[in-house]
Amino acid sequence: MTQAPRIAVIGAGPSGLYTAEALLKEDPDVTVDVIDRLPAPYGLVRYGVAPDHLKMKSVIRALVGTFDDAARVRFLGNVRVGEDGIPGEVLREHYHGVVYASGSSVDRRLGVEGEDLAGNFGSGAFVSWYCGHPDFTGLAPALAHPGAVVVGAGNVALDVARVLARPAEDLAGTDAHDEVVDALRASAISDVHVVIRRGPQHVKFTPAELRQIGKLDDVEVLVHDDGVLAAGVEEPPERRMRQNLEMLTEWVQNPPGAGGRRRIHLHFLRSPVRVLGEDGRVTGIELVHNRIDAEKVRATDRHETLEAGLVVRAIGYVGEPIPGLPFDEETGTVPHEAGRVMLGSEPVPGCYVAGWIKRGPSGVIGTNKGDGSETAASLLADLPGLATPAYPDPDSVPERLCEYGIEPVFWEDWQRLDAEEIRRGEQRGGTDRVKIAERDAMLEAARGSVRQAG
Ligand SMILES: Cc1cc2nc3c(=O)[nH]c(=O)nc-3n(C[C@H](O)[C@H](O)[C@H](O)COP(=O)(O)OP(=O)(O)OC[C@H]3O[C@@H](n4cnc5c(N)ncnc54)[C@H](O)[C@@H]3O)c2cc1C
Ligand SMILES: NC(=O)c1ccc[n+]([C@@H]2O[C@H](COP(=O)([O-])OP(=O)(O)OC[C@H]3O[C@@H](n4cnc5c(N)ncnc54)[C@H](OP(=O)(O)O)[C@@H]3O)[C@@H](O)[C@H]2O)c1
Repeated sequence: MTQAPRIAVIGAGPSGLYTAEALLKEDPDVTVDVIDRLPAPYGLVRYGVAPDHLKMKSVIRALVGTFDDAARVRFLGNVRVGEDGIPGEVLREHYHGVVYASGSSVDRRLGVEGEDLAGNFGSGAFVSWYCGHPDFTGLAPALAHPGAVVVGAGNVALDVARVLARPAEDLAGTDAHDEVVDALRASAISDVHVVIRRGPQHVKFTPAELRQIGKLDDVEVLVHDDGVLAAGVEEPPERRMRQNLEMLTEWVQNPPGAGGRRRIHLHFLRSPVRVLGEDGRVTGIELVHNRIDAEKVRATDRHETLEAGLVVRAIGYVGEPIPGLPFDEETGTVPHEAGRVMLGSEPVPGCYVAGWIKRGPSGVIGTNKGDGSETAASLLADLPGLATPAYPDPDSVPERLCEYGIEPVFWEDWQRLDAEEIRRGEQRGGTDRVKIAERDAMLEAARGSVRQAG
């Protein structure tokens, strides 16, 4: 390797930005392009973290620091790598190494009948809608029925239940865009049913997240546990599980928010067997009651149905395969060793992974820091043996993108879009920003051609 090392990081979510930060810090010669298919950076911090989790969003203040050294790091937004974008192998002609930090965006399926009825969504799609992701502005979820079902017992299930149950006015003070706030204001949902396949002693919610639903204004939380807690359960091994169990035991006796206008029902030991529908739309869900036998979930012959116009499955995600790279279908991740992409027992030269596409869809934002550092360390250790790219000149990248009809959003463009969102926040009042969700409108704002409406 003779040229100064040039690295592309694909994905401007936490793992991409932590990897870029580590590369820049550990090797003063390295320059990095952070590439994202969206015109805005921050991945799931912008498009996953719930709008009412304002404190969590403030992690952006730390992530933005990655772009401080403008001479060494560049943002290239609005650039999809792969199908319908620039092929990964073409991009690799411009860099010594490429780190894929593209996340896990595909919703897992339940594999039950009726899953394709209108009104049934994966949490990836539903959360993207309420977070103003440009690919999901047209989702228009049906909120006209009093019942809604959320399947799953993770923090995402709690996020979705909370957003559906809490007063819409609370969201007006967040970055949620106007259409979402208006849709939630008009919502007829009164009962949000969270369907959890195991018992109250098994759930791994973050206790703070569980506590939060017990503190919502005008929302009652009802625990349906078929008497399991009253009969007594074994103490769970993890502290957070014990904290959850303590809270749930208290809530069985004293439901928080009793008499509230809306209800969140926590249904334990139940699994969906069928999504019910009429005229192509969801009308409810059929559940089977479970028992736990030697830590395995076993279905009983007891069934029940819940009426609902909306079903959201929050049961996890898988990654999208990256053309030209190996992929493990079972885990939905790219096989790797310490971040080096592996084809069998051989590393794929110059190719690395970080974040959810590397280790699967679990872990909080901070988990991606150590993960990104590990990948950066592997790449930097390999650098002396990596081939010099055919086109090492940084200017060659935008020219190449142009050949594919791609006009990138640079950092200064994003800053214009950012400023316009902040301006809209001031206009709405009581919030730091209002997101622009439509892709064209984002691009207009980024390129300074936005109409100053209102
Ligand atoms: C709904 C939800 C809520 C969450 N809330 C919290 C929370 O409150 N607190 C917390 O600590 N953690 C939370 N997490 C977890 C946290 O968001 C993840 O740990 C983290 O975002 C994973 O980072 P990542 O960079 O691997 O993936 P992502 O954040 O998904 O980033 C991947 C990036 O890659 C880009 N990309 C994908 N494909 C391509 C392509 N082909 N070309 C170019 N770019 C591409 C995407 O646009 C995206 O920006 C939440 C997760 C979810 C799903
Ligand atoms: N505020 C926060 O800090 C925050 C917010 C959101 C997300 N996150 C993080 O982001 C990551 C992803 O969250 P997540 O909620 O998507 O994932 P998760 O924590 O893995 O939860 C997925 C849930 O789906 C259930 N499930 C899987 N398959 C199922 C099936 N076929 N039928 C019924 N239930 C099924 C699992 O049940 P079992 O438990 O029985 O396996 C599990 O409870 C997590 O690490 C989470 O902590 C953090």
